Amino acid sequence: MKHRYSWHLLACAALLAAAFLIFRRPGPAPGPAEAPAPTVKETGVTRTYDVVAAPVAWELRPGLVTDAYAYDGTVPGTEIRVTRGDRVKVTLTNKLDEPTTIHWHGVRVPAGMDGVPMVSQEPVPPGGTFTYEFVVPDAGTFFYHSHVHADEQVDRGLYGAFIVEPAEGAIPDAVIALDDWLLDPSGKRLDTVHTLAETEADNLLDSVSESVRPATAAGHMMPDGTMMGGMAHQGMMHHAYDPNMNGRYGGTLTANGKTGDAVAPIAVPPGGARLLRLINASNAMTHELKAEDGRLLEIVAVDGTALPKPIKTGALTLPPAKRFDVLLRDADGKPWALLEKRDAGSLRIPVAISGEAGPMPSFASDAPAPPDLRRRAPDAVVAVGTDRMMDPTTWTINGKPYDMEGENDPLATFAKGTWVKIRFMNGTPMAHPMHLHGQFMTVIARDGKAPSQSYRQDVVVVRPNETVDVAVLADNPGDWVLHCHNLEHEEHGLMAKIRVE
Ligand code: C2O
Ligand code: CU
Repeated sequence: MKHRYSWHLLACAALLAAAFLIFRRPGPAPGPAEAPAPTVKETGVTRTYDVVAAPVAWELRPGLVTDAYAYDGTVPGTEIRVTRGDRVKVTLTNKLDEPTTIHWHGVRVPAGMDGVPMVSQEPVPPGGTFTYEFVVPDAGTFFYHSHVHADEQVDRGLYGAFIVEPAEGAIPDAVIALDDWLLDPSGKRLDTVHTLAETEADNLLDSVSESVRPATAAGHMMPDGTMMGGMAHQGMMHHAYDPNMNGRYGGTLTANGKTGDAVAPIAVPPGGARLLRLINASNAMTHELKAEDGRLLEIVAVDGTALPKPIKTGALTLPPAKRFDVLLRDADGKPWALLEKRDAGSLRIPVAISGEAGPMPSFASDAPAPPDLRRRAPDAVVAVGTDRMMDPTTWTINGKPYDMEGENDPLATFAKGTWVKIRFMNGTPMAHPMHLHGQFMTVIARDGKAPSQSYRQDVVVVRPNETVDVAVLADNPGDWVLHCHNLEHEEHGLMAKIRVE
């Protein structure tokens, strides 16, 4: 129980910090003059998809079947693959017994197409349909997922890849969505993290205990200053596992909905390379993949945006909802594998050497670089706190939990076309992968220190007790949400509304 005590102290500190930091701007915030957004050249092509959300008995591997939710009967759902500048028309039909929506994670869609219930649209009722239509402004690796009771619906399988090819030509690639499933040995989904807290399943607790342990692998520093792997879990070391705090973790790890020997290999051409588009679709788990033979892996893009300088690393440490594009190279003509090893389960993704080596086009980003906002006062302060007086845990932003069913006042209103600075202050002992809808974020400082390179992201990890400043070009008008992508945190209040007008 000692951990509870220290947790309470930290929670109090966080609440105090939040109480001092609450401030809201009544009108549009001042900012540097109109910044030109990248212009999207429309291709004139319309891509039409019909997507059906329905329950399905999903086979994770022969002999292990679970009651899942899926788009078009598969986990992940139908891959949506378009070209930058295409118009996309997706008609969602809801065959679930509960309302749902689709959110196009990381894709800068118009506000009414963003899929957030009560903010962008009414949730689609059982039996209902909704047509999403938008022009795709950015090339890269994105994904789509439910935004209604996301902690349950996404966990059950309502996600799919959304790949945008550059207009200059397709890149030969492989797409893998990573996930973890919390099941009993017969494949039955264990209901909620709250239920889990009351079970005595030691093996399941094992599957989550890893999140409270430091990783043994050498970590790597992302250019935005996030430490990945290694020390990344350090903030979790001082308290024992509490499912309401850390989110839902399961021991059955999947690549594209399959586990064990059912995982399909990735083909890398002999002497060549293949772009692996890696998506973390887990509720809360930060996945960590390494090459079985220890070779270095090269991250070339994060959240769909090309890195100015690619990163070579021994471990791909991918927080929830983030995407890494990774170049997999053939070194010696021998098959190899990517491995994730955790206490309660592991995942092996074989790499086969086959196919034709094609050209590997570069996919540089034309994202506008932010002006130097470091010394400017923030336009919005997002202090992350928690409230432990209610059960389950209530998470707050600036002392307020988000009301999922009701009206929420905007935390901040930004003038369209301005660069704004948002400051995240994490007063809790766990990391929060913060996601902004509708526009990208560029980290400009972590605890006051500028990062080694500047690039756009849609999820920025804010480590325990860390302050992170991000620059945002507020160029997409409407109401948007800003939330933690640990889905248990999100659904328990860690969300706020941002307005651009
Ligand atoms: Cu991927 Cu609001 O979420
Ligand atoms: Cu969080």
